[in-house]
Amino acid sequence: MIDVGLILARFLHYTATATLAGVSFFPFYAYADSEPETLNFWRRKLLLWTAVVALFSGLFWFVFSAATMSGSLADLANPEVVWAVLRDTTFGVVWTARMFLAVAIVGVTAMCLFSTATVSRDSITPLLAAALLGSLAGTGHSQIEEGWASVIHVASDVAHLLAAGAWLGGLVPLGFILLRYDMVNREVRPIDVDRILLGFSGMGYVAVATLIGSGLINGWFLVGSVANLLRTPYGQILIGKLVLFAAMLALAIANRLWLVPLMSRTRTDTSGGVWASRLRNHVLGEQFLGWMVLLIVSILGTMRPAIVQ
Ligand code: HEM
Repeated sequence: MIDVGLILARFLHYTATATLAGVSFFPFYAYADSEPETLNFWRRKLLLWTAVVALFSGLFWFVFSAATMSGSLADLANPEVVWAVLRDTTFGVVWTARMFLAVAIVGVTAMCLFSTATVSRDSITPLLAAALLGSLAGTGHSQIEEGWASVIHVASDVAHLLAAGAWLGGLVPLGFILLRYDMVNREVRPIDVDRILLGFSGMGYVAVATLIGSGLINGWFLVGSVANLLRTPYGQILIGKLVLFAAMLALAIANRLWLVPLMSRTRTDTSGGVWASRLRNHVLGEQFLGWMVLLIVSILGTMRPAIVQ
């Protein structure tokens, strides 16, 4: 029960913090000038809702982690147990700071949504969202080394988390734009869609390269050998993650090299809509696979790493 609760809380928190970061980064690479007002308003609403989910899922992650440490959920009724986790564990100290940051982000995103001034390029939310996502590296498996090894592992994990957020979180507004974009509804001009798709691909190249590089470093510290990868439950589940990653990459490459050029070339003729809806399905497929990767990561983080099995 505690394990399942912890995995679900981790999954919800990874998804919410990755989405919060990726959605807040989106305008920086997607729009040459200002974001269309309707999309800006939709994105601000989404940021507030995602911030609220990030806060509550973070509190649930704390509850189930504290229950894992003390041995039962009932123990959490004892304030001394909760206080001991908060004060005497690195997890407790880091998590307290993260939850205060999450409350601040709810405040900032609510202000941005309800303020009358149009917020053209909000740079506070992306910074705070990056800190909330990246600070996950201050807990979990990146804490098993000491000295320089620990610095390298934590730094690579921060890069891994931010790249995961940029890609998976960026797919949400991209999917929304493609879902709303058709020949009739001109909320986004075709030329803007091309620019958004090109901007997203550019970000994608950097995110994928960072994920592979930092993933290999994580793997080096937590798996250690091909034998460990193949023979341990941790390694085998990580292979499952890599298969999902390869499928996401295949979809992304098909979009960039095949569907996007075809969609632009055939925009004026009847088949234009076909390629646009294909692209839309691919982007939704990439999103679903990405969330499955986060589910696997939510499980991996509760297991003993392969290198210590
Ligand atoms: C879509 C691609 C990917 C996404 C979204 C993703 C996401 C994540 C996330 C969110 C974490 C948890 C980090 C933490 O809480 O500290 C993680 C950990 C990890 N990732 Fe990835 N990752 C991706 C690709 C990769 C690749 C390509 C590799 C290997 C080459 C890799 C290897 C690892 C390892 C070894 C860990 C540590 C797991 C643990 O905590 O025990 N990842 N990944």
